[in-house]
Amino acid sequence: MPLHVLQHPLAAHVMTHLRDQTTRPATFRTLAYHLGLLLAIEATRDLPTKEKTVETPLESHQGRVLARSLVIVPILRAGLGLMQPFVDLFPDVSVGYVGLERDHATAVARSYYCKLPPLAGTRVIVVDPMLATGGSAVQALAVVKQAGAEDLSFACIVSSPEGVAAMQAAHPEVPIFTAAHDRALNVRKYIIPGLGDFGDRLYGT
Ligand code: PRP
Ligand code: URA
Repeated sequence: MPLHVLQHPLAAHVMTHLRDQTTRPATFRTLAYHLGLLLAIEATRDLPTKEKTVETPLESHQGRVLARSLVIVPILRAGLGLMQPFVDLFPDVSVGYVGLERDHATAVARSYYCKLPPLAGTRVIVVDPMLATGGSAVQALAVVKQAGAEDLSFACIVSSPEGVAAMQAAHPEVPIFTAAHDRALNVRKYIIPGLGDFGDRLYGT
């Protein structure tokens, strides 16, 4: 599946301020929210719709409404920074949670929590701001597939070539939406240029 990189002047503007190490957590959270709105619109561009007839004050009109329920699955903890934009745009969305944490020494993700709504027949969008080695996203997608998800997407703020390759190897049918596709990983498996530790910057830890 292709990698979709956000192409919007506002996305570029917000990304630059998110990357800036002098951006403080309160502003960082707002910027992440704005980028999340742009990602949510991009990642749902192909949602199926069905006909619905309504009466305007003047006449009958045949319009279209969403035909498939949406489930958003943030990967805890940093994924929570991308949840609210989806919830605000799609008020009927259901939310599931997958808790994963990378070991600081090995960069391998460990699972510590999972709570998912029924997924069959829905569009499931897994969100996590950073796709670095891809270990967390690959594991989270395996979990939601195991729970019955069939129509899946993944949305992030920054991706790396290694992360995208890992996803395309493990889950080749899953489209990836990202706001920025960066150059590489450093020796500590952080994305460069990246923006540092997203969770720490979001929550001021
Ligand atoms: C970060 C990030 C991703 C993961 C990406 O989370 O939010 O979940 O690392 O790295 P990967 O692609 O190499 O797996 P982290 O494990 O630091 O936990 P946090 O969200 O609690 O900060
Ligand atoms: N997790 C982050 O928060 N940032 C990175 O660059 C890699 C993993």
